[in-house]
Amino acid sequence: MINIQKLATNNFLSSLDLSSEEVIHILELAEKFKNNELNISCSNKVLGLIFDKSSTRTRVSFQVAMSRLGGTTIDLNPSTSQIGRGEPIKDTARVLSRYCDALAIRTFKHSNLEAYARWSTKPVINALTDLEHPCQALADFLTIKQEFGRLKDLVLTFVGDGNNVANSLILCGALMGLEVRIACPKGYEPNIAIIKKARKLYKNNDMLKITDDPINAALGANILYTDVWSSMGQENQKREKDKDFAGFSLDNDLVSKAKTDVIVLHCLPAYRDKEISDEVIESGKSRVFDQAENRLHVQQALLASIFS
Ligand code: CP
Ligand code: NVA
Repeated sequence: MINIQKLATNNFLSSLDLSSEEVIHILELAEKFKNNELNISCSNKVLGLIFDKSSTRTRVSFQVAMSRLGGTTIDLNPSTSQIGRGEPIKDTARVLSRYCDALAIRTFKHSNLEAYARWSTKPVINALTDLEHPCQALADFLTIKQEFGRLKDLVLTFVGDGNNVANSLILCGALMGLEVRIACPKGYEPNIAIIKKARKLYKNNDMLKITDDPINAALGANILYTDVWSSMGQENQKREKDKDFAGFSLDNDLVSKAKTDVIVLHCLPAYRDKEISDEVIESGKSRVFDQAENRLHVQQALLASIFS
């Protein structure tokens, strides 16, 4: 038997809103949900989904997670609600939190997510902002734990843009004690404030490396991870970024530098033969579909904890 522990925080805006013990607990719960060993009912609970950007995995995994918990979701499409007309966040948040029991929000500016959290009287979950993607990091860490049976004494190398996904990997890595290496072209480093927070958590400075040398970063890695070079909202930079990121593709050459039992992760959606080669994403080392499936299990665990 496992008791569902209430989270100390009301909101999940950042990977650092959870303690390492809470992450371990959520991963344990997620494994139980995955193995059909846990039957938790959150009937009558309603999760509102506000997505200002497109989504397949996050939206559907939240919908299925709520359905498996016996609750429901309402998809508040900004273009058919008054959100798209520019109703102030402080009004939308106060109204929606009188109907819904929690809100999962995908938006551009992280400060907008924080504004929702400030005005909502119900928990707010980050479903991706320009700064962080903490639900993704939980699924990534579950995938790593299931592969290696542990989270410590592992090297996770992220190759590509120092974006929201990289930021959450850095924070979650610092929380859980993994060595994280980020290899990105000069000028595309992760957010400075995120790096500072992570360095504070790590006892040892060598546990977080930011470099523009992907080959060196891949040497001895247990996990190789990449994401799109141009995130949602950066479409107009695509041509320039494609040039700047030459040499930063996760291809077989790079995989050969890592440990022989390396696994390859990508949060998806992917541009094949840009940030990752088709060969690598389809190879036996790729765990991208287990990783995508794990979105469902960790979010079900997160919701069960929030509603407990
Ligand atoms: N990885 C991820 O968040 O995918 P979606 O954009 O499809 O939700
Ligand atoms: N970095 C990507 C992740 C998509 C899931 C983006 O923000 O578009």
